Amino acid sequence: MINTTRTPPEFGDPNDVLFSRIADDIRTKGYSVNPEALPENLGEKLYQLLGSMAKKQAFNKSSIGRDQQLIQKGTVRGDETCWITDESAAGREWLGWMHDLQVFLNRRLFLGLFSFESHFSHYRAGGFYKRHLDAFQGEDNRVLSTVLYLNHNWESKHGGELILFNGKQDLEGINVKPNFGTVVLFLSEEFPHEVVATHNDRYSVAGWFCLNTSTSKKIDPPS
Ligand code: OGA
Ligand code: MN
Repeated sequence: MINTTRTPPEFGDPNDVLFSRIADDIRTKGYSVNPEALPENLGEKLYQLLGSMAKKQAFNKSSIGRDQQLIQKGTVRGDETCWITDESAAGREWLGWMHDLQVFLNRRLFLGLFSFESHFSHYRAGGFYKRHLDAFQGEDNRVLSTVLYLNHNWESKHGGELILFNGKQDLEGINVKPNFGTVVLFLSEEFPHEVVATHNDRYSVAGWFCLNTSTSKKIDPPS
């Protein structure tokens, strides 16, 4: 008897179509832009989590680089950030979904992605992030960057676009509007990018898949 309520096996995991497209994009172009990409309701859950973290005043002014190289923001970037952990249901769901993507990309592209870290970003009116690379200087562990946007009803007049440059020589770039549910991925070392000044509150979730750079002196956390 045919059970019509089940998805036929050839259609498999509902993520497969999206994850395959992302893998093909990364392999052929090095970046991938996906409107309305999230599993049902995950965007809303993250939006609510963002609201509750903001209420708890859990957002911090961002800085550039790590440890001694910290440069207090202001001239380079103008957002406030809050790390996403598995302490909340929405956080667990987001990190779980990205983990599924990590496993898929490792199988498909042999990327060797080892861990994923992610934070909310809030740019207030006037906020921006000048052209930069996500891979820290002297550390090459960030390999694949992700950005998810959480802005309902974004209009062109609000500005705040992401501009993704295809290598150091590219001055024109690809323009992405920060529309709710759009997920962007790009190779961290190959795509300089910037956030154009926004004229409205602008919310995003930035994330990075990292390689395992453990040494005998420093052990990377697994995820
Ligand atoms: C970042 C970043 C882009 C964006 O946080 O490193 O580049 O569109 N964010 O929010
Ligand atoms: Mn960046």
